[in-house]
This record gives sequence, structure tokens and C-alpha cells, in this order.
Amino acid sequence: MTSPFLPLIDGFGRVHTSLRVSVTDACNIRCRYCMPAMVNSFLPQSKLLSFDAIERIVRVLVAAGVCKVRLTGGEPLMRPDLDQLVSRLNRIEGLHQIAMTTNGMMLAGMMDRLVNAGLTHINISLDTLREEAFRQISRRDGIERVLQGIESALKTDLVVRLNALVLRDINLEDCIPLVEFARDRNIFIRFIEFMPLDADRNWSQDQVVSGDELRARVETTFGLLTPLGRSDPAQPASDYGFADGRGGIGFIDPVSKPFCESCNRLRLTADGKLRNCLFGREEWDVRAAIDSGESDSRLYEIASDCIKNKFAAHGISTSSFQQPERAMYQIGG
Ligand code: 5AD
Ligand code: SF4
Repeated sequence: MTSPFLPLIDGFGRVHTSLRVSVTDACNIRCRYCMPAMVNSFLPQSKLLSFDAIERIVRVLVAAGVCKVRLTGGEPLMRPDLDQLVSRLNRIEGLHQIAMTTNGMMLAGMMDRLVNAGLTHINISLDTLREEAFRQISRRDGIERVLQGIESALKTDLVVRLNALVLRDINLEDCIPLVEFARDRNIFIRFIEFMPLDADRNWSQDQVVSGDELRARVETTFGLLTPLGRSDPAQPASDYGFADGRGGIGFIDPVSKPFCESCNRLRLTADGKLRNCLFGREEWDVRAAIDSGESDSRLYEIASDCIKNKFAAHGISTSSFQQPERAMYQIGG
């Protein structure tokens, strides 16, 4: 079948094939690198894109070359019946990957439904194995539930990865036990640098632990890591293997080594705005277009305009950098 829409190529030649869909801004925990301690209100149901609308937008974007979707939040499993969305997306021809990033707390009870619906990849956040540090980071209890979520995912055929974020003053000491945990289960763990997307606007360079620093620590304990190369040139992580072949480790270094030049991602917020970058200051309102009865071609044009306006890089380290108005949980990780 020939595609009705041209690929989404920006002014720097980057082809956009990966879409992150936030399905809710709500979350059951309050990670300090993302959310404020107190949230006045999450988006009301009426402001969330319906599954119909999400499916329609994804269909248009897949017709324009998108082949991978990642469901995010907030916490995506806070959205009721998320498996129904997965199963609708699973019917879209040309969509090869349906991934999800979750904090894992609600996963155990949902796992079978998600697998049956056609989920292919799952990233579970795990920043520490210590209850006390979990509480300090997420301002909630519940590490046991996260660990149960991970174990339930490991029983499936999904590709399971762990995501860890290290804050220098809180969980630097956890990096080695976390790597051990991943290796014991023969899975990948990826460390992602803390980005200025926290609702509290407390981000500071001294809390960021760079991928290079973590790698040096890990090598001191586990020996030299072997770079694995990038199976996908647009993947943000630099992946490494261990000498004994057990598990794997990746570093996502948006702060110390920005990877904007290979970015292929666009984002759809839970309230129906397209964004061309986590750090973008502009949004394109597809929700409004749908509500006013616009055609698929018009939705495509909006997406195309969004991509054409993408900047070369996020510029976190430039003096003119301004943190976006919305925090991570409102954009979608
Ligand atoms: N910087 C980097 N990553 C973040 N995440 C949330 N907030 C931030 C931030 N400020 C990531 C976490 C979590 C995922 C859902 O989003 O790694 O695993
Ligand atoms: Fe919730 Fe994820 Fe944000 Fe943590 S990082 S508060 S789990 S949305």
C-alpha cells in the first residue's frame, strides 16, 4: 500500500518515525525529578484525548512513516483500560512496536491484558532498591509493588528494560546494586541523566550524574564494558555489554552528550498537543482540529508543521536555555 502522506522530515533532514503518546498526566507517586510534592489537579477526563482520537492521530502519523509508539504518562497505567488502546493500536498496519514506560506499581495486575493486547516493549523505572531512597525520590511507599511489577513483566515475552535516574545527593550509591539486579535477571538497565524538566524547578547541574561518571563506577566493580553499537541509529542510549554476557547497560546522556542530531521523535500530550521536542516551547493543537471536524489531511499538515519547526538542538547547556513551562509528567517522558 502506498502511503498517502510524505514522511515527517524536519529542516535538518531528521526523519520522524517514533511517537510518544502520553495517555494521562496523573501519577500515583511524585518523583521529585518530575512532579511537585502536591498537585492541585490533574487533567479532567474531558480534557484527555479519547482512545478514538489517539487511534486516529496514530493512524495518520503511521501513514506518514511513524512505526513505533511509546505510551507514557504521567503513569500510563493510571488511564483505565489502557489495554484497549494497545489493542486498537496493534491493529494498525505499519506500526511495528508498541512500547510503554511505566513506574511498574500497577503492572502486576495488568500484565496479561497488556501482553494479550499486543504490547511489545516495556521500560520500568527503578532508581533504587532501598525503601528509604524510594520514599525520598517518589515521596511515596511502594517499592515492593514496583518489584512485583518487574517480576511479572519478566514472566512474559516482552522486551523488558529498566530505567534508572540518579540524583547525586540521593541515590548515587544505588547504581551498583541496580546493575547487579539487572544482571541477575539478564536484562538491560539504562541510566538516564537528570534533565531540567522537574516541576519544582530545582534542577541543578550538581545533581546530574553523567553517564561517563556512572560508567567509570560500574567498570570499577564489573570490569571493562564493551560498547555494543547502536542497533537503531536514532536510539538515545549508548549500550554496553559485560564480559560474561549477562544483562546489559545503557547510558542516556541528554545533558552531557546531547543526541539531538539523530532525534526521530515527536510527542503527543495527554491533552492533545503535538510537540517536536521535550524542551520545545511551542505546541500544535491536534485536539482542537479534531473537535472542529478537520480531515486527516489537515491533521497531517499540523504534524508536518510541528516537525518543520523543530530546532536543531535543545540547548540545555546554553545561556539562553529556558526550562519549558510544562514539567515531565505533563509532557510525557
Ligand atoms: N529527567 C530525566 N528523566 C526524567 N524522567 C522523569 N523526569 C525526568 C527528568 N527530569 C524519566 C524517568 C522515568 C521516566 C518516566 O521519565 O527516567 O523513568
Ligand atoms: Fe510518576 Fe513517572 Fe513522574 Fe515518577 S517520573 S512522578 S513515576 S510520571
